[in-house]
Amino acid sequence: MARVTYVNGRYQLHDQAMVHVEDRGHQFADAVYEVVPVNHGRIHHLEQHLDRLGRSLAALSIGWPVSRRVMAQIIARIADVNRVVDGLVYLQISRGTAPRNHLFPANARPGLVVSAWSVRGPSANAVEQGVAVLTRPDLRWKRPDIKTVGLLPNLLARQSAKEEGGYEAWLVNEQGFVTEGSATNAFIVAADGTLRTHPADGSILAGITRANALELACQEGLAVEERPFTVAEALAAREAFLTGTTLMALPVTSIDGHKVGDGRPGPVAIRLRTLYQELRRP
Ligand code: PDD
Repeated sequence: MARVTYVNGRYQLHDQAMVHVEDRGHQFADAVYEVVPVNHGRIHHLEQHLDRLGRSLAALSIGWPVSRRVMAQIIARIADVNRVVDGLVYLQISRGTAPRNHLFPANARPGLVVSAWSVRGPSANAVEQGVAVLTRPDLRWKRPDIKTVGLLPNLLARQSAKEEGGYEAWLVNEQGFVTEGSATNAFIVAADGTLRTHPADGSILAGITRANALELACQEGLAVEERPFTVAEALAAREAFLTGTTLMALPVTSIDGHKVGDGRPGPVAIRLRTLYQELRRP
Protein backbone atom coordinates (compact mmCIF):
# COMPACT_ATOMS: atom_id res chain seq x y z
CA MET A 1 0.00 0.00 0.00
CA ALA A 2 1.46 3.37 -1.02
CA ARG A 3 1.93 5.90 1.73
CA VAL A 4 -0.06 9.12 1.42
CA THR A 5 0.73 12.58 2.79
CA TYR A 6 -1.47 15.66 2.87
CA VAL A 7 0.15 18.84 1.54
CA ASN A 8 -1.77 22.11 1.29
CA GLY A 9 -5.14 20.71 0.36
CA ARG A 10 -4.07 17.59 -1.53
CA TYR A 11 -3.58 13.98 -0.52
CA GLN A 12 -0.45 12.97 -2.42
CA LEU A 13 1.75 9.93 -2.77
CA HIS A 14 4.29 10.39 -0.02
CA ASP A 15 7.22 10.05 -2.44
CA GLN A 16 5.88 12.96 -4.47
CA ALA A 17 4.77 15.17 -1.56
CA MET A 18 6.77 18.41 -1.67
CA VAL A 19 6.79 21.89 -0.22
CA HIS A 20 8.27 24.93 -1.93
CA VAL A 21 11.96 25.79 -1.43
CA GLU A 22 10.87 29.14 -0.02
CA ASP A 23 8.55 27.62 2.54
CA ARG A 24 9.43 29.54 5.70
CA GLY A 25 9.58 26.35 7.71
CA HIS A 26 12.40 25.25 5.42
CA GLN A 27 14.29 28.57 5.49
CA PHE A 28 13.69 29.87 9.02
CA ALA A 29 12.11 27.05 11.06
CA ASP A 30 9.16 29.46 11.01
CA ALA A 31 6.74 26.62 11.62
CA VAL A 32 5.08 24.65 14.39
CA TYR A 33 4.19 20.97 14.66
CA GLU A 34 2.24 18.41 16.60
CA VAL A 35 2.52 14.67 17.09
CA VAL A 36 -0.80 13.00 17.80
CA PRO A 37 -0.86 9.37 18.95
CA VAL A 38 -2.79 6.57 17.28
CA ASN A 39 -3.38 3.39 19.27
CA HIS A 40 -5.68 0.50 18.48
CA GLY A 41 -6.62 2.36 15.31
CA ARG A 42 -7.88 5.44 17.15
CA ILE A 43 -6.62 8.99 17.52
CA HIS A 44 -6.11 9.87 21.19
CA HIS A 45 -6.04 13.11 23.18
CA LEU A 46 -6.92 15.04 20.02
CA GLU A 47 -8.47 18.04 21.75
CA GLN A 48 -5.42 18.46 23.98
CA HIS A 49 -3.10 18.34 20.97
CA LEU A 50 -5.23 20.81 19.00
CA ASP A 51 -5.36 23.14 22.02
CA ARG A 52 -1.56 23.09 22.22
CA LEU A 53 -1.31 23.61 18.46
CA GLY A 54 -3.57 26.65 18.83
CA ARG A 55 -1.29 28.04 21.55
CA SER A 56 1.84 27.49 19.39
CA LEU A 57 0.20 29.19 16.39
CA ALA A 58 -1.04 32.11 18.48
CA ALA A 59 2.40 32.60 20.05
CA LEU A 60 3.90 33.06 16.57
CA SER A 61 0.93 34.91 15.00
CA ILE A 62 0.42 32.16 12.42
CA GLY A 63 -3.19 31.55 11.45
CA TRP A 64 -4.91 28.18 11.30
CA PRO A 65 -4.51 26.97 7.68
CA VAL A 66 -7.87 25.20 7.96
CA SER A 67 -10.49 25.27 10.69
CA ARG A 68 -9.98 23.14 13.76
CA ARG A 69 -12.86 20.92 12.65
CA VAL A 70 -11.30 20.34 9.21
CA MET A 71 -7.91 19.74 10.84
CA ALA A 72 -9.46 16.96 12.90
CA GLN A 73 -10.93 15.46 9.72
CA ILE A 74 -7.58 15.55 7.91
CA ILE A 75 -5.84 13.92 10.88
CA ALA A 76 -8.41 11.13 10.99
CA ARG A 77 -8.28 10.60 7.24
CA ILE A 78 -4.50 10.52 6.95
CA ALA A 79 -4.29 7.93 9.76
CA ASP A 80 -6.99 5.93 8.03
CA VAL A 81 -5.59 5.97 4.47
CA ASN A 82 -2.18 5.00 5.80
CA ARG A 83 -3.79 2.20 7.85
CA VAL A 84 -2.04 3.24 11.04
CA VAL A 85 -3.13 1.06 13.93
CA ASP A 86 -0.39 2.01 16.40
CA GLY A 87 1.65 5.03 15.49
CA LEU A 88 1.30 8.74 15.08
CA VAL A 89 0.03 11.58 12.98
CA TYR A 90 2.61 14.30 12.38
CA LEU A 91 1.39 17.72 11.35
CA GLN A 92 3.38 20.81 10.56
CA ILE A 93 2.17 24.33 9.87
CA SER A 94 4.52 26.94 8.45
CA ARG A 95 3.90 30.63 8.05
CA GLY A 96 3.77 29.94 4.32
CA THR A 97 5.86 30.46 1.21
CA ALA A 98 7.36 33.86 0.37
CA PRO A 99 10.64 35.38 -0.88
CA ARG A 100 13.20 35.10 1.93
CA ASN A 101 12.85 38.04 4.30
CA HIS A 102 13.05 38.15 8.08
CA LEU A 103 9.82 40.17 8.21
CA PHE A 104 6.57 38.24 8.11
CA PRO A 105 5.15 38.15 4.58
CA ALA A 106 1.98 40.21 4.22
CA ASN A 107 -0.15 37.74 2.31
CA ALA A 108 1.36 34.28 2.67
CA ARG A 109 -1.10 31.49 3.39
CA PRO A 110 0.01 29.13 6.17
CA GLY A 111 1.29 25.84 4.77
CA LEU A 112 0.00 22.53 6.13
CA VAL A 113 1.61 19.11 5.88
CA VAL A 114 0.06 16.08 7.60
CA SER A 115 1.48 12.58 7.51
CA ALA A 116 1.06 9.42 9.52
CA TRP A 117 3.09 6.31 10.15
CA SER A 118 3.25 3.25 12.35
CA VAL A 119 5.50 3.31 15.37
CA ARG A 120 6.45 0.45 17.61
CA GLY A 121 6.51 1.63 21.20
CA PRO A 122 9.64 1.24 23.29
CA SER A 123 11.18 -2.24 23.21
CA ALA A 124 10.21 -4.82 25.82
CA ASN A 125 13.76 -4.54 27.10
CA ALA A 126 13.47 -0.76 27.58
CA VAL A 127 10.22 -1.21 29.50
CA GLU A 128 11.47 -4.10 31.64
CA GLN A 129 14.99 -2.82 32.36
CA GLY A 130 14.37 0.91 32.18
CA VAL A 131 16.50 3.23 30.09
CA ALA A 132 19.69 5.23 30.61
CA VAL A 133 19.65 9.01 30.32
CA LEU A 134 22.65 11.27 30.01
CA THR A 135 22.54 14.93 31.02
CA ARG A 136 23.35 17.64 28.53
CA PRO A 137 23.24 21.46 28.81
CA ASP A 138 19.88 22.95 27.84
CA LEU A 139 21.02 25.14 24.94
CA ARG A 140 17.55 25.99 23.63
CA TRP A 141 15.98 29.41 23.16
CA LYS A 142 13.83 30.85 25.93
CA ARG A 143 10.47 29.75 24.44
CA PRO A 144 10.66 25.94 24.34
CA ASP A 145 6.98 25.97 25.33
CA ILE A 146 6.19 26.77 21.67
CA LYS A 147 6.28 23.54 19.67
CA THR A 148 8.34 24.88 16.77
CA VAL A 149 10.29 22.77 14.29
CA GLY A 150 13.47 24.61 15.36
CA LEU A 151 14.77 21.58 17.26
CA LEU A 152 18.50 21.70 16.58
CA PRO A 153 19.60 21.87 20.26
CA ASN A 154 17.27 18.94 21.00
CA LEU A 155 18.76 16.96 18.11
CA LEU A 156 22.33 17.65 19.19
CA ALA A 157 21.60 16.62 22.77
CA ARG A 158 19.77 13.42 21.76
CA GLN A 159 22.46 12.46 19.25
CA SER A 160 25.35 12.99 21.64
CA ALA A 161 23.51 11.04 24.37
CA LYS A 162 22.86 8.22 21.93
CA GLU A 163 26.51 8.14 20.86
CA GLU A 164 27.45 7.57 24.50
CA GLY A 165 24.90 4.82 25.06
CA GLY A 166 22.00 6.92 26.37
CA TYR A 167 18.39 6.47 25.33
CA GLU A 168 17.50 10.10 26.01
CA ALA A 169 19.27 13.33 26.98
CA TRP A 170 18.04 15.18 30.05
CA LEU A 171 18.54 18.89 29.55
CA VAL A 172 20.01 20.84 32.46
CA ASN A 173 19.59 24.61 32.63
CA GLU A 174 22.08 27.19 33.90
CA GLN A 175 20.68 26.91 37.42
CA GLY A 176 21.45 23.18 37.45
CA PHE A 177 17.82 22.05 37.14
CA VAL A 178 16.65 19.30 34.80
CA THR A 179 14.11 20.98 32.54
CA GLU A 180 13.04 18.01 30.39
CA GLY A 181 14.30 15.49 27.87
CA SER A 182 15.22 16.28 24.26
CA ALA A 183 11.77 14.99 23.20
CA THR A 184 10.20 13.85 26.47
CA ASN A 185 9.32 15.25 29.89
CA ALA A 186 11.31 14.23 32.97
CA PHE A 187 9.95 12.99 36.32
CA ILE A 188 11.37 11.70 39.57
CA VAL A 189 9.81 10.11 42.63
CA ALA A 190 11.71 11.76 45.46
CA ALA A 191 12.92 9.89 48.54
CA ASP A 192 9.77 11.07 50.40
CA GLY A 193 7.55 9.57 47.68
CA THR A 194 6.59 12.88 46.03
CA LEU A 195 6.27 12.83 42.28
CA ARG A 196 8.19 15.77 40.93
CA THR A 197 8.55 17.36 37.49
CA HIS A 198 9.59 20.77 36.21
CA PRO A 199 6.66 23.23 36.16
CA ALA A 200 5.19 24.11 32.78
CA ASP A 201 6.23 27.73 33.30
CA GLY A 202 7.35 28.47 29.74
CA SER A 203 10.78 26.88 30.05
CA ILE A 204 9.66 23.40 28.97
CA LEU A 205 7.29 21.96 26.42
CA ALA A 206 4.04 21.27 28.25
CA GLY A 207 3.76 17.63 27.21
CA ILE A 208 0.29 16.21 26.82
CA THR A 209 1.52 12.92 28.30
CA ARG A 210 3.06 14.90 31.17
CA ALA A 211 -0.27 16.55 31.96
CA ASN A 212 -2.17 13.28 31.72
CA ALA A 213 0.42 11.46 33.85
CA LEU A 214 0.13 14.14 36.54
CA GLU A 215 -3.64 13.76 36.51
CA LEU A 216 -3.40 9.97 36.77
CA ALA A 217 -0.90 10.30 39.61
CA CYS A 218 -3.29 12.61 41.50
CA GLN A 219 -6.12 10.14 40.96
CA GLU A 220 -3.86 7.44 42.41
CA GLY A 221 -3.47 9.57 45.53
CA LEU A 222 0.23 10.33 44.95
CA ALA A 223 1.70 13.57 46.26
CA VAL A 224 2.56 15.60 43.18
CA GLU A 225 4.78 18.65 43.03
CA GLU A 226 5.56 20.67 39.92
CA ARG A 227 8.93 21.97 40.99
CA PRO A 228 12.37 21.84 39.36
CA PHE A 229 14.82 19.19 40.53
CA THR A 230 18.59 18.98 40.18
CA VAL A 231 20.62 16.07 38.82
CA ALA A 232 21.75 15.35 42.42
CA GLU A 233 18.09 15.16 43.52
CA ALA A 234 17.34 12.83 40.62
CA LEU A 235 20.24 10.58 41.65
CA ALA A 236 18.95 10.50 45.22
CA ALA A 237 15.39 9.73 44.03
CA ARG A 238 13.57 6.44 44.49
CA GLU A 239 12.82 6.30 40.83
CA ALA A 240 12.76 8.32 37.65
CA PHE A 241 10.88 8.13 34.39
CA LEU A 242 10.11 10.02 31.24
CA THR A 243 6.89 10.67 29.34
CA GLY A 244 6.08 11.29 25.69
CA THR A 245 3.33 10.65 23.20
CA THR A 246 4.67 7.43 21.70
CA LEU A 247 6.54 6.24 24.81
CA MET A 248 3.79 6.91 27.37
CA ALA A 249 5.66 6.52 30.70
CA LEU A 250 9.06 4.83 30.51
CA PRO A 251 11.26 4.04 33.54
CA VAL A 252 14.70 5.64 33.77
CA THR A 253 17.11 3.43 35.69
CA SER A 254 20.37 5.28 35.23
CA ILE A 255 21.47 8.89 34.94
CA ASP A 256 24.99 9.69 33.73
CA GLY A 257 25.97 6.09 34.44
CA HIS A 258 24.71 6.12 38.05
CA LYS A 259 21.88 3.88 39.17
CA VAL A 260 18.56 5.47 40.12
CA GLY A 261 17.12 3.81 43.24
CA ASP A 262 17.88 0.11 43.09
CA GLY A 263 18.52 0.32 39.35
CA ARG A 264 15.20 -1.34 38.51
CA PRO A 265 12.03 0.27 37.11
CA GLY A 266 10.06 1.75 40.00
CA PRO A 267 6.44 1.02 40.94
CA VAL A 268 5.14 4.51 40.12
CA ALA A 269 6.52 4.43 36.59
CA ILE A 270 5.18 0.92 36.04
CA ARG A 271 1.75 1.84 37.43
CA LEU A 272 1.50 5.02 35.36
CA ARG A 273 2.54 3.12 32.26
CA THR A 274 -0.24 0.58 32.84
CA LEU A 275 -2.82 3.29 33.51
CA TYR A 276 -1.71 5.18 30.43
CA GLN A 277 -2.05 2.10 28.27
CA GLU A 278 -5.56 1.67 29.62
CA LEU A 279 -6.36 5.28 28.67
CA ARG A 280 -5.44 4.44 25.08
CA ARG A 281 -7.54 1.27 24.93
CA PRO A 282 -10.71 1.55 22.87
N1 PDD B 1 8.11 15.43 21.27
N2 PDD B 1 9.40 17.73 25.55
C1 PDD B 1 9.81 17.93 24.29
C2 PDD B 1 10.96 18.84 24.05
C3 PDD B 1 9.16 17.29 23.22
O1 PDD B 1 9.57 17.49 21.96
C4 PDD B 1 8.09 16.41 23.49
C5 PDD B 1 7.35 15.71 22.39
C6 PDD B 1 7.70 16.22 24.83
C7 PDD B 1 6.56 15.32 25.21
O2 PDD B 1 5.33 15.88 24.81
P1 PDD B 1 4.07 14.96 24.52
O3 PDD B 1 3.78 14.22 25.76
O4 PDD B 1 2.99 15.92 24.18
O5 PDD B 1 4.47 14.05 23.41
C8 PDD B 1 8.37 16.91 25.83
C9 PDD B 1 7.47 14.90 20.11
C10 PDD B 1 6.80 13.60 20.33
C11 PDD B 1 8.44 14.91 18.95
O6 PDD B 1 9.11 15.91 18.82
O7 PDD B 1 8.50 13.96 18.17
